[in-house]
Amino acid sequence: MMMSQAEIPVIAIDGPVGSGKGTIARQVAEALGWHLLDSGALYRLTALAAIKRGIALDDDARLAELAAHLDARFGSDAEGGERIWLDEEDVTAAIRTEECGAGASAVAALSPVRDALLDLQRSFRKAPGLVADGRDMGSHVFMDAGLKVFLTASPQERAKRRYKQLNDKGIDVSLAALSRDIEERDRRDQERSVAPLRPAEDARELDSSNMSIEEVVSTVLDWAAGR
Ligand code: DC
Repeated sequence: MMMSQAEIPVIAIDGPVGSGKGTIARQVAEALGWHLLDSGALYRLTALAAIKRGIALDDDARLAELAAHLDARFGSDAEGGERIWLDEEDVTAAIRTEECGAGASAVAALSPVRDALLDLQRSFRKAPGLVADGRDMGSHVFMDAGLKVFLTASPQERAKRRYKQLNDKGIDVSLAALSRDIEERDRRDQERSVAPLRPAEDARELDSSNMSIEEVVSTVLDWAAGR
């Protein structure tokens, strides 16, 4: 029997940069055998498509048009690694650059773009279920999600995780500067007028500062199972 859209369960995982929600969402989806939506990637794809076409990152109308007709495809390569294509071109690495991140942040502040991406985001809701990772999954896109998690970690912990990530890549940065960046970005995300980063009213908050990835994943799975 076909399930109607509303019957397909959704777990929304929202939170600030560095909270680990991307990793947690992927592992929860794998454990359940559910689909995964990385909504940040859609904002990044919109920014990349705009940059390629020479569309200004504040041109609401053209950006919304672009977002509404994104030719994006999510899949995996022969080794099972995640790949993302835009207009049939593999852009997996291209959308993770700082330039694309900054562009994504700019286009994400425009409500016509956010509205244009709604249908695309909701189209990821397929049986047997969806784990959706973002900023407004529980508060806006999937308001009827059965479980909404707002994942946080202290700014110090998030700065430390980012520091380690960059260090592992051989990039030299100061921990103090990273902490300042993170606090500044938090303030901007929480104070912006369009879709500010805030937990949905019925979200369960989880502070992962002193938890391992495994502990966070098993907590979310326990909540999903109603334990
Ligand atoms: O999570 P990320 O870094 O890939 O997100 C890229 C940008 O998109 C970031 O500036 C926040 C924004 N974003 C958003 O506004 N709403 C979402 N649901 C996901 C991402």
